Amino acid sequence: MRQVMTAHTNVESARGLRQESPWWQNLNGSWQLKLWANPDAVPNTAVKTTLSSTADWLSVEVPGNWTMQGTGDFPHYTNVQMPFALRPPEVPEKNVTGVYRRTFTVHRDWKSRRTIIHIGGAESVHALFINGSFVGYGTDSRLPSEYDISDFLQTGKNTVAIIVPRYSAQSYVEDQDQWWMAGLHREVFLESRALVHLDQVHVVADWDADSGVATATTTLRIRSADEKAIAHGWSVRTWIETLDGRRLGQVQKETFPHRHLQAYLFSGHLATTTVVVPKVLPWSAEIPTRYRLVCELLNPDQEVTEVVAQVIGFRRVEIKDGLVSVNGQAITIMGVNRHDHHPDRGKAVTVEDMRQDIVAMKQANVNAVRTSHYPNDHRFYDLCDEYGLYVVDEANIESHAFNTSLCHDPRFSATWLSRVSRMVERDRNHPSVIIWSLGNESGYGEHHDACAAYIRRVDPTRLLHYEGASFHGGWSDELGLATDVVCPMYPPVAALDWYADGALGTRPVILCEYSHAMGNSNGGLSDYWEAFNKHRALQGGFIWEWKDHGIRQVAKNGIERFAYGGQFGDTPHDANFVADGLVSPECEPHPAMQELMWVHRPVSVEQTGWKLRVTNRQSFRNLGWLRGSWEMTVDGEILSSGLWSPNVNAGQSLLIDPPISLVEAKSNRGEVLLNFRWETKKVTPWCGVGHLVAWDQIVVREAKLPAMPKRVSHSDRAEIDVLLGNPPRLSIWRAATDNDGFKLIGNGGALGKWLKAGIDSKPAESLVQHVFDSYVDAHGAVIYEHAVVVPEELADLPRVGVVFDMPRGFDQIRWFGRGPLENMPDRNSGALLDIWESEPDELPYILPQEFGLRTDCRWMEIIRSRDGRRLRIEALRPVALHMSATHHRDEDLFAAADVTELRRCEGLVVHLDIAHRGVGTASCGPDMHPRHAIAAGTYRFAYRLLLVK
Ligand code: GAL
Repeated sequence: MRQVMTAHTNVESARGLRQESPWWQNLNGSWQLKLWANPDAVPNTAVKTTLSSTADWLSVEVPGNWTMQGTGDFPHYTNVQMPFALRPPEVPEKNVTGVYRRTFTVHRDWKSRRTIIHIGGAESVHALFINGSFVGYGTDSRLPSEYDISDFLQTGKNTVAIIVPRYSAQSYVEDQDQWWMAGLHREVFLESRALVHLDQVHVVADWDADSGVATATTTLRIRSADEKAIAHGWSVRTWIETLDGRRLGQVQKETFPHRHLQAYLFSGHLATTTVVVPKVLPWSAEIPTRYRLVCELLNPDQEVTEVVAQVIGFRRVEIKDGLVSVNGQAITIMGVNRHDHHPDRGKAVTVEDMRQDIVAMKQANVNAVRTSHYPNDHRFYDLCDEYGLYVVDEANIESHAFNTSLCHDPRFSATWLSRVSRMVERDRNHPSVIIWSLGNESGYGEHHDACAAYIRRVDPTRLLHYEGASFHGGWSDELGLATDVVCPMYPPVAALDWYADGALGTRPVILCEYSHAMGNSNGGLSDYWEAFNKHRALQGGFIWEWKDHGIRQVAKNGIERFAYGGQFGDTPHDANFVADGLVSPECEPHPAMQELMWVHRPVSVEQTGWKLRVTNRQSFRNLGWLRGSWEMTVDGEILSSGLWSPNVNAGQSLLIDPPISLVEAKSNRGEVLLNFRWETKKVTPWCGVGHLVAWDQIVVREAKLPAMPKRVSHSDRAEIDVLLGNPPRLSIWRAATDNDGFKLIGNGGALGKWLKAGIDSKPAESLVQHVFDSYVDAHGAVIYEHAVVVPEELADLPRVGVVFDMPRGFDQIRWFGRGPLENMPDRNSGALLDIWESEPDELPYILPQEFGLRTDCRWMEIIRSRDGRRLRIEALRPVALHMSATHHRDEDLFAAADVTELRRCEGLVVHLDIAHRGVGTASCGPDMHPRHAIAAGTYRFAYRLLLVK
């Protein structure tokens, strides 16, 4: 394993793409593939130079998962459990095994050199054959394996055959919560290396914040398949340049030591160059300035024999004053966990797929990514360097089903060390990688301590992360060895407060996973951020997780869906637990992204007395890249507005005068709100001009209860009655969210309780007391007044409210409440109170469940855009109700296992709730905070329905 780097013939070409090098050859594309039932069934002939018949051989794309390529062997989803009930290192009898084949020719100029094949990743393991001969065996599905195949090549056409069994003994350390796939899912290419070539380029690009001095220390090694070929006098020239090729600082030259010393004192053909580079800008996720390191290898005759380049960034990562710091500044991790996933390609994601993820992350104010739970394709790190994301680079180790045994099992110690050390070796030149992770959910044992010791020795410039050390050792400081950060998953906010308030440890806290984004979720996200903002030792965390892993599939009834576990006939499985992302499989943000962007916003505005506190929440940048604006609304209508961009330095807070006197603003009648928005001024690599990155709202004058309309006896309400068909009915049920309980796999949690009480099936009136009255006012509007008594034994209901139907044709909603996107009572801190308009939502989640709510609505209009006719719903008591209008009934959503079973109404189903349970994150983590539960007691509410036009 080495850094991914291509040798070029000259500097100009080294600055460009690898395909410009004569010494690089792509082997991606169409390969032959044939599957057998298990490795033993594969005949010798399958790997021979020629096949007697190519019948039964498929043509597939590499990179690709054969499980996604119409082969009849499908993906299989499990979380903790293994897909087969065996014990390590046993492998199942049924172990579909593929043989991939293709031919290639090697350029004549490569003959005198060495030819290397790079196999980017094969699930599960692979055995390589060239022209019928066995070359080698690779066992880490998510790191490249490279083989020197020179001695196996022939003139003209060559055949490469790769046997890939779907499962192996290695599967036990790759038991991540994701689809089990199979095949050559990463790139394959050839490289020609000179007999004497640069084999290692380790660069430490350091930036000292106090002096501003940047130093590049590069340790290079040359190697040769024939050690004797390394004559005396090989040397290297290195320099740093800007990306457009302007050299900075001196060219350094160093000669490689030769074998003239006694062997036992000789530490290798290693040379180190050190250069102080003037006037560089440091790298950070906020300002990701990159440079290029160029290395020219010279032979003893001083001729340049090859040139390699690495893109680098100068920065220093350390624990400073007890905090994870970059360039001397403490950072805050606004992170997500990301798996490789594409709905059609599975794990074989393209560079464009990765870029799509990264751009969407940057647009959501995400500044960090954990490569859960394995090293990614090397180009992912290039993109993180380029766009600016801090990376926790994680080793491909998860022994979850055998959580606490394999980490002590000597049969696996070498596996651990090789997976960790190879990752470090490959990725160590990337500025984006600031922390190494020893893997996920694999207990805590001596293998971890061995890996930690290894990293501390070879790369002391980065920090260590291992959740198991926090989990199995506690968060206190005794444990030490395998992690520099306390990095728990899914702790409740109270545990974080407890650690920070009690100063129980000295290590900073970065949550490796939190706020499980499964379905309608991320309740309480802003509570976490309140804690992070309060305690400096809490340095943020990584949401679980970025993307739903649904796989596009056409069901038997011809309707397309995103399939989850079990929908390929896979057993055992863990159903839709694989769909727990912030974005859909196609990278469409779920509504919770609105809240995520807000908790991550780079600048915040809060009211302090008659002044405003503006905080620049970034670590490095001032606010110059943003254009701020404000507006004052009265009852939702904009009364005045302007530009307002106070400059506040990174990490600072300023108490300043508002752009409009708050005293004056408060003198308006009605509900007075001040909104602040910050948009990008310039095009960035990840957004255009005017991209909204931050917003805040200040309530200057609260809404007052309107007077109750007077009852008039003579009015005719028939029009509304006809329109609605039935009057509003009591509703205490919601289509359970993933966080209420798993409707597909046993109904625990709140859902279990609700089903037992019959809340989904019994008439609501038989469970709670309900009295109501309705009458007509002088404008012909109908007023409804309800009182609902929730008994003790039914405390913690899904909702208390009413539901009614609207006929077809009503296709637009406009409301004064929180928006613009769906928001929930415990996920609405970033949802501005304003007048919004949209079409009714469509189900954003893979599993049908409650969706589309808008909290705190003062009013809502359901509009027939054809003729402008509208039903106006006004909250009377209290000032606001939670409302939604979608095409689905709760019972239909609850009954459906996916969209192919989901019944849709032509008209709209309208809910008005006085109370709606929070969503929390109980699918994996804490449930909602008790303040978002529906307590026993009496709920009185009133609203007015009016037909307009
Ligand atoms: C964690 C695990 C993740 C995922 C998540 C739940 O325990 O590290 O891989 O399983 O829970 O979705």
